[in-house]
Amino acid sequence: MTQRSDRRSDRRPGSVKLGAADNAKARAGPSTLPTATQPPAPAPEGFSAGWLQLREAFDHRARAGDAGLRALAGLLRAAGPAAGEPWRVIDLACGTGSNLRWLAPRLGGPQQWLVVDHDPALLAHWPQAMASAGLGALRPGGSNPALARSQPPTPPPALHLSAPGLDARIVRQPLDLARGLDALPWQAAHLVTASALLDLVSADWLDRLAHAAGSSRTALLMALSVDGRHRWTPADPFDDSVARLFARHQHRDKGFGPALGAQATHHLRVRLRAAGHRVWTWRSDWQLDGGRDAADRRLMAAMIDGMAGAAQEVDASARPALQAWQGRRQALLGASRLRVGHLDLMALPPERG
Ligand SMILES: C[S@@+](CC[C@H](N)C(=O)[O-])C[C@H]1O[C@@H](n2cnc3c(N)ncnc32)[C@H](O)[C@@H]1O
Repeated sequence: MTQRSDRRSDRRPGSVKLGAADNAKARAGPSTLPTATQPPAPAPEGFSAGWLQLREAFDHRARAGDAGLRALAGLLRAAGPAAGEPWRVIDLACGTGSNLRWLAPRLGGPQQWLVVDHDPALLAHWPQAMASAGLGALRPGGSNPALARSQPPTPPPALHLSAPGLDARIVRQPLDLARGLDALPWQAAHLVTASALLDLVSADWLDRLAHAAGSSRTALLMALSVDGRHRWTPADPFDDSVARLFARHQHRDKGFGPALGAQATHHLRVRLRAAGHRVWTWRSDWQLDGGRDAADRRLMAAMIDGMAGAAQEVDASARPALQAWQGRRQALLGASRLRVGHLDLMALPPERG
């Protein structure tokens, strides 16, 4: 589930630490992670930092329970760097850093992150978001010569995160991924990751993603992609109609061409397998309970308004029925539960034969 802005924790950092592995990429890669060379473009679609903060605790709670986490640890170990080498990770559409805050403690050890987003305001928000999360000490990480060559808007300075068991240099880069995906330093990365991105993108863009991962033999971890399931308890007779209209809205162009919405993970899985990757998917559903606490109610209320608003954009004639649904759902907040279906996908390049 994504939510536009009008601009015109949950689970503690995990106990699973990933050891070093000896893979071909670790031996071949450069010692630092370069940046993309393509200049950024203006942002056509915006997400507010407030919305990203609201969902972060639920995103983190949804990602891999203990058994899933052990399986993920094994997969990441297979993708990771040789002993003593830093992880080199690219985070696509990073927002204010939620994906890094979940993943970096689980990778552990030295890390170099290139985090990209087309929205400079979200990139600028990173220090504040990191401070609120209390993950560790954050300090300026020095200038980045490659970034200094970029076109305006001026890229923010690098950051350095130190926390127990991890040490990460973070380079933030403004970049329009609709155009700049291929310009990223795929060959240098062990892992390319994203969270809450796939429903925004088109089949064509996913084909390019699979091609880039295949030709560079890079592992992918694409988390928290909506899969179209919304289960409200108690049910309302209009829930299914809202879900249908909302699904149609999710297919609109979000800057990457006609969006695949809930079908994105399936499409990517097929393309990655065709490119030779080994692919695993598992559920990472949000589970909201209005009787639990105020944060659940805030997120559920935002979901209700967001879904009703999007549905009205698709079918203005349904407005009275949608507003009535919205009123009934908001009135029932404290007594409602909502499960929002998400999928995580992990892909590893083929083993060398
Ligand atoms: C739902 S948010 C997810 C943010 C973050 N990954 C998280 O989990 O909190 C989607 C992100 O995609 C970014 N985005 C949308 N279109 C983009 C584009 N064309 N290029 C780069 N980033 C884009 C938005 O700015 C936003 O940060």
